[in-house]
Amino acid sequence: MSRALRTQVAIVGAGPAGLLLSHLLHLEGIESVVLESRSRSEIESTIRAGVLEQGTVDLLVEAGVGERMKREGFVHRGIHLRFGGRSHRICFPELADGRCITVYAQHEVIKDLVRARLDAGGRILFGVENVSLHDLATHAPRVRFRHDGAEHELRGDFVGGCDGFHGMARLAMPTATRRDFLHTYPLGWLGLLVEAPPSTDELIYAYHPRGFALVSTRSPTLQRFYLQCDPGDRVAQWSDDRIWSELHARLENTEGWHLTEGRITQKNVVAMRSFVCEPMRHGRLFLAGDAAHIVPPTGAKGLNLAVADVRVLSRAMAEFFRAGRTDPLDAYSATALRRVWRTEHFSWWMTSMLHHFADADEFQQRLQLAQLDQVITSTAAAKALAENYVGLPLP
Ligand code: FAD
Ligand code: DHB
Repeated sequence: MSRALRTQVAIVGAGPAGLLLSHLLHLEGIESVVLESRSRSEIESTIRAGVLEQGTVDLLVEAGVGERMKREGFVHRGIHLRFGGRSHRICFPELADGRCITVYAQHEVIKDLVRARLDAGGRILFGVENVSLHDLATHAPRVRFRHDGAEHELRGDFVGGCDGFHGMARLAMPTATRRDFLHTYPLGWLGLLVEAPPSTDELIYAYHPRGFALVSTRSPTLQRFYLQCDPGDRVAQWSDDRIWSELHARLENTEGWHLTEGRITQKNVVAMRSFVCEPMRHGRLFLAGDAAHIVPPTGAKGLNLAVADVRVLSRAMAEFFRAGRTDPLDAYSATALRRVWRTEHFSWWMTSMLHHFADADEFQQRLQLAQLDQVITSTAAAKALAENYVGLPLP
């Protein structure tokens, strides 16, 4: 016997996409239930993204969930591109109409959204198992799952597939109705959390023959670094000594800049891929965020793209429930995919420009340097980078 539940929008996944969708729908007076396979403490402590575009920041503030981000996040007005031992600043406000980025960790955004949903009486079920989607091509889709030892069935008008790249929502779309585009890179990133004061007040993206390195930050006492590695590397292959020696080598400079070392508290390896699923809809199932697309992290875009998706989707659903209109829902996939492909291109471009590719010949390496040189000497090229990095205006 399964227990029956009813809502307007059943949302699978409590990542940034699922939680923000639930929150934006709530602001439109639409009820949703969020199903999450992990525990609350797990989703609130997983270290991932850190860079929020201007549009993401504005939307979180407008939606009433930006107060702590405004207080604790760091506004950055530029980034440094470092190569050949020198840093070159890309100044955002002057190149991108006054727009900036904010460094505020993804799990802090998650905490703010979970709190807002629960305070408003929203339902998030943590630790659900065996989620399966049914009758998606009808007007009465159903989601079955196991929770607290019992079987449940959630009925809704729509299903939001927000369960990330490894989720099941995308796979519930019949293969004949979708097309997948996948590009893998021979690259990985070793992500590091370090207890130390900041080494820089703006992010440093470093191109070096030994491989890419990135200096980011989290707080006055916690820093985030990334090192290009082999996608098949295991964390055990990266001793603290090896990490510091690679960071120093790849960030070498002739400008007297120093990297401040500290205790490494976390290491993880992320493989890099670009992926898009078209369309982002099947019947009453709508995909959003990593469930529909993945970008390599070099452009800091994944979370921001998830936010852009759910902005479009929540508005389309609101039009449906308010006025019975289906055309915004019909346009959702095409509208979202336009930004997705622009962002895929930017993330691929940043990745191609900044990493060391083992199979690249010297000709290709010279092309990378020529591209970097263009970005630091041509206002038009710098502007293209800045506009994409701070984010195109939200649709
Ligand atoms: P997710 O965050 O993956 O959330 C999906 C949720 O669904 C998860 O909580 C998962 O547990 C749950 N779930 C999965 N399967 C099921 C199931 N069957 N049933 C129920 N629940 C399920 N992006 C940026 O914008 N800026 C950055 O600076 C940046 N840096 C990054 C650095 C790293 C190292 C990595 C790995 C990613 C980075 N990203 C960045 C990408 C960003 O983290 C993701 O794009 C973002 O998390 C996508 O959000 P989402 O809600 O779509 O998916
Ligand atoms: C961070 C992650 C990124 O992917 C990036 O491009 C810049 C910063 C971060 O986690 O701080």
